[in-house]
Amino acid sequence: MLAGQKIGFLGGGAMAEALITGIVKSELVPVSKIFVSDINRNRLVYLQKKLGVNLVNDNRSLVQESDIIFLAVKPFVVEKILNDVEGIINNTKIIISIAAGITTGCIEGLLKGKQVPVVRVMPNTPALVGEGASALSLGKYSGAIEEQKAAALMSAVGKVVSLPESLLDSVTGLSGSGPAYMYIVLEALSDAGVRMGLPRNVATLLSAQTMIGAARMVLETGEHPGSLKDQVTTPGGTTIAGLYTLEEAGVRAALMRAVETATKRSRELSGS
Ligand SMILES: NC(=O)c1ccc[n+]([C@@H]2O[C@H](COP(=O)([O-])OP(=O)(O)OC[C@H]3O[C@@H](n4cnc5c(N)ncnc54)[C@H](OP(=O)(O)O)[C@@H]3O)[C@@H](O)[C@H]2O)c1
Repeated sequence: MLAGQKIGFLGGGAMAEALITGIVKSELVPVSKIFVSDINRNRLVYLQKKLGVNLVNDNRSLVQESDIIFLAVKPFVVEKILNDVEGIINNTKIIISIAAGITTGCIEGLLKGKQVPVVRVMPNTPALVGEGASALSLGKYSGAIEEQKAAALMSAVGKVVSLPESLLDSVTGLSGSGPAYMYIVLEALSDAGVRMGLPRNVATLLSAQTMIGAARMVLETGEHPGSLKDQVTTPGGTTIAGLYTLEEAGVRAALMRAVETATKRSRELSGS
């Protein structure tokens, strides 16, 4: 599906680096077919040395060179870049935007009705270690082929789901902001271990590995998290004693409210 396709990155920052690393490692596209442009020359040199990508001196040449173009700059730069490349872009190319909060309609508008297929993706930071959780939405001129290509590329850095764009603010509130919620839980568990006499490094390792292990149990067994919880909860035992304390503290409701608040904030910021 991606054979022979040239992949361009407008912006060679942290996310672009993560994506290129994943795409090359998973052998989806050879590095000889990957192109990057960035206003920061040092970044380009770094990416060429580290990953062997092709450097392109300006955004217009990058668009000309590439079949699939990742818009991987900060959201406030998107309008300027699209104004710059709009004249040379056409509907044989696909734009995949990872710019947070920028809608497909906004991108299509900046491309002045050229019917270019646009896919919007909301990734999260664990993509940097190949464990991202991304959601993608299709623009007005995208279909199954664009969806498959974008999903294949994003799966190089983690799990991907397809959703209507109206749900991307909810994704931002859950998996976009979610790593920070998990870091807080992890830090608190580590503190708790220290409080109970464990050395800090041991407490952090046990907490982090427990989080990875529990997440993999859910994904790999396909079982409901409540059922997995029941399986480790002996009548009158230690786990139910700990769970009762969490319920008393309202941990579930706090997490649900956190996702709700972050979703609302995402709507406010993107004006949706
Ligand atoms: N990082 C994440 O976990 C994450 C998660 C979800 C979504 N996103 C989205 O992903 C996008 C990229 O994020 P990032 O963290 O990779 O950002 P980043 O590290 O700042 O990378 C953006 C790169 O683009 C360069 N740039 C700025 N203006 C440019 C221009 N006119 N032409 C070409 N290159 C230009 C920047 O150079 P300078 O540094 O010199 O400006 C920088 O090297 C953002 O829109 C963000 O919202 C990121």
